[in-house]
Amino acid sequence: MSPIGIIGGSGFYKLVGIEGPQKVHIDTPFGEVIATRGYLSNKEVIFIPRHGEDHTIPPHKINYHANAYAMYKLQVEKVIATSAVGSMRKDLKPGDFVLPDQIIDFTKSRRYTFFDGDFAIQLKSGELRAGVYHVDATEPYCRELRKIIYQVGKEMGLKIHFGGTYVCTEGPRFETPAEIKFFRKIGGDIVGMTNSPEVFLFKELNICYALICVVTNYAAGMQKKVSHEEVLEIFKRRSEVLADLIRRVVAKL
Ligand code: HPA
Repeated sequence: MSPIGIIGGSGFYKLVGIEGPQKVHIDTPFGEVIATRGYLSNKEVIFIPRHGEDHTIPPHKINYHANAYAMYKLQVEKVIATSAVGSMRKDLKPGDFVLPDQIIDFTKSRRYTFFDGDFAIQLKSGELRAGVYHVDATEPYCRELRKIIYQVGKEMGLKIHFGGTYVCTEGPRFETPAEIKFFRKIGGDIVGMTNSPEVFLFKELNICYALICVVTNYAAGMQKKVSHEEVLEIFKRRSEVLADLIRRVVAKL
């Protein structure tokens, strides 16, 4: 069975409960990735903390290509990622979980694709993706995986929302209230800084990818101010439950 990939966001730097953890160095054409390999609910997992173990990598400097390719190289077929987000809807409250089904990309200076010339991959199905390739983004997030996460979350009695539109900003600054007003107008529900290009790169590699967002704050203009400390603090408070959710989901896969 192929290992299950787990990506940790802000405040999620270690995978609690992982058994037999081993640090692995994975060489990719995009750079080296240091991940932790081990077992969760008796299934093999590969864990990558997106911002590094000490949160030293800001959103615009994350090596999204290397992280995604490392998962591909280790034959991962399903990825559960986590992220802290701000809420742009009153009913999505700090502490709630959201499983987005759509994304609007407002980043400005990232590398967005594997397919910018001479990249090629062969999928397990035999399909070859090479050269200039345009991936379908109708369903950016894996529906099957989202359904399982939602079902498990509900069984646990969590406040978990199935669906929502994630707006990705460049960061690392938080947004202005005017930007949030605009994002709300165009249909955004939650806002974060890391899901583009991450979700699209997994799509290009044909890896089933779902994102569990933890709402850590109301977005700019909807509360007094937004601080990184608050984001980390609220995320930390939810991290045990989040780890438990992931453990139970992995058991079901
Ligand atoms: N904006 C962008 N990213 C975030 C936020 C926010 O309000 N909260 C947590 N990550």
